[in-house]
Amino acid sequence: MSSIDPTHTHAPGIAPSPGLQDPEEFVAARSNGDQLAAREPVDSKTDGSPGVLAAESVTFAYPDGTVALHDLSLTLPQGRRVAILGANGCGKTTLFLNFNGILRPSAGTIVHNGEPIQYDREALRDLRRRVGLVFQDPDSQLFAASVRQDISFGPLNLGWSEEHARARVEQIIVDTNLTELAERPTHMLSYGQKKRVAIAGVLVMEPEVIIADEPTAGLDPETTGRVLNLLDSLHHAGRSIVISTHDVELALAWADHVIVMHRGHLLAEGPPDVVLADDPLLREAGLLQPIVVDAYRQFCAAGLLPSSEAVPRTVSDLTALLVRHAAPRTPPNSPPD
Ligand SMILES: Nc1ncnc2c1ncn2[C@@H]1O[C@H](COP(=O)(O)OP(=O)(O)OP(=O)(O)O)[C@@H](O)[C@H]1O
Ligand SMILES: [Mg+2]
Repeated sequence: MSSIDPTHTHAPGIAPSPGLQDPEEFVAARSNGDQLAAREPVDSKTDGSPGVLAAESVTFAYPDGTVALHDLSLTLPQGRRVAILGANGCGKTTLFLNFNGILRPSAGTIVHNGEPIQYDREALRDLRRRVGLVFQDPDSQLFAASVRQDISFGPLNLGWSEEHARARVEQIIVDTNLTELAERPTHMLSYGQKKRVAIAGVLVMEPEVIIADEPTAGLDPETTGRVLNLLDSLHHAGRSIVISTHDVELALAWADHVIVMHRGHLLAEGPPDVVLADDPLLREAGLLQPIVVDAYRQFCAAGLLPSSEAVPRTVSDLTALLVRHAAPRTPPNSPPD
């Protein structure tokens, strides 16, 4: 069995806020409770609605004095697919650990469903039932002897019937392509395999909000597709999904709201086809323009497409645009009119 250290995060030396002190608390941190079952999708915007989670003027400083978040205010809209982008060290993981109550702001407030979060044990347990966090580093999250045991740990401690819990576990094992690894010790898995187990261990409990810190980093293309499909199915069931990523193509194609961070600040937020088509902004954030946007711009410059169209989000969108705007061709050897 790998070490049971539920307080460990990627930020060694940081005293977590109360509530992650024992395995029972860790179950709550990884679980959602079953009271969240049938929530309707909400098409809320960030325009004034409290959102599902929000940071209000949040500053976070690590004990060594590094200020990772600077007076940061942003809202995660409810029932949406949100991608947070930004260069290494811009504060994504620190923000996620604040959203989950593992870290506590040095100043400012984290708001969940319109209420400031509280840091007593009970409140944190409840928060973590509702807000499931997939850690960037899977070793921070896995502790049971085998893959199946690790994924089963939360569901078997949630108060679900054993039959229901076991059925959910078997389903998520299939969904995350873990069938062949189910009996393997977690510490003997490859990085990408561990990542899949960590993702499965959170998704299996269907939290109201799923925050996944770089969920597709290190995954092969097939597994990336499976994980995104899984997140989509939870989104369609009304869950709010938030991921961090450096992958601008993925964010453009998948997200319906994009947030760009830079050095602990909010740089921009909005629809992906607007934010991710803003080349100067992306450069400032240390990101590259998505290839599909670059190709679209070049087709426009070459006169093949009008620049009045909405920016395509996928290669298929771009192809459809080209087909629509292609000049009708005269077949070779056709007789002159
Ligand atoms: N335990 C720590 N002690 C001191 N500083 C830390 C600690 N953890 C992170 N930092 C610093 O806080 C800042 C934000 O780090 P964070 O891990 O939140 O960034 P990130 O956006 O998640 O980066 P990445 O894309 O590499 O995962 C960085 O300057 C980092 O060096
Ligand atoms: Mg990070």
